[in-house]
Amino acid sequence: MSNRGTIHKAVIPVAGLGTRFLPATKATPKEMLPVVDKPAIQYVVEEAVAAGINDVLFVTGRNKDSLENHFDRAPSLERTLAERGAFEMQSEISELADLAAMHYVRQGVPMGLGHAVSMAKEHVGNQAFAVLLGDDLVDAKTPVLPDMFAAQAKFGGSILALMEVPEDQIHLYGCAAVVPTDNPDIVRVTELVEKPAAGTAPSNLAVIGRYVIDPAIFSLLENLAPGRGGEIQLTDALASLIDMPAESGGGVHAVVFRGKRYDTGDKLSYLKSVVSIALDRDDLGPDLRAWLTSYLAGKI
Ligand code: G1P
Repeated sequence: MSNRGTIHKAVIPVAGLGTRFLPATKATPKEMLPVVDKPAIQYVVEEAVAAGINDVLFVTGRNKDSLENHFDRAPSLERTLAERGAFEMQSEISELADLAAMHYVRQGVPMGLGHAVSMAKEHVGNQAFAVLLGDDLVDAKTPVLPDMFAAQAKFGGSILALMEVPEDQIHLYGCAAVVPTDNPDIVRVTELVEKPAAGTAPSNLAVIGRYVIDPAIFSLLENLAPGRGGEIQLTDALASLIDMPAESGGGVHAVVFRGKRYDTGDKLSYLKSVVSIALDRDDLGPDLRAWLTSYLAGKI
């Protein structure tokens, strides 16, 4: 069955331990680390909502209570803000609970991204759905989801987002071999490899953490043997979709993303996201730019 049409559910896996960011993530989920004044995960949810998503399923693990609290009402805080006359902040805080219908499922044992996505089966049902990885921050000025949704409406099947990365970085990502379509920004995926060993990558096109996936993925994930790192890899199940007939939900295309993207689970990339987002803000940008310029010139 082909699943073209409006995508309104998103799955956001957030069960990772955040070991790359210890000790900051010992008691705080990595997705809750602030990027300027919002937790990283809020940007991801806002990106999904801006693209038309109205239903979010978080696949969580231990230690994620603060994330659930962030997207819930906080009556006493809201009351305090109202008493102080901070009405703008009060509504900003309360609206977080209304961004979308928020749902949670626990992953239990962390067995990989494919396993996390398989937990969404009951909730997603038989419709194509989006997956957004909580670590990947896509600059709101250059969104990729709308193009992916349009590609899914045109081609059906599943749609990835690919980004060119330097050759010495490709081993950190899923990697795709592709052929062109008549649209220069959309390619057909012919091969997918999760984190290829040095010198074996079929291209320098990395899979970034935005997906539109046909529900046919669920039965593939159920029967999938552990892959790279002994984990159930989403990339491996997507690879099986490539050669499946369109009537069974097969076929994988990709949008080639040329905007800005940060990996907030990586220290350097996280710092870049904070600086770049702050520089873009009217309230912080001008002063930060002036300070940075002097600082880098050695004047401070
Ligand atoms: C995951 C995926 C990988 C993808 C990456 C994007 O890896 O398995 O295919 O390229 O996200 O961020 P992770 O970064 O979770 O190891």
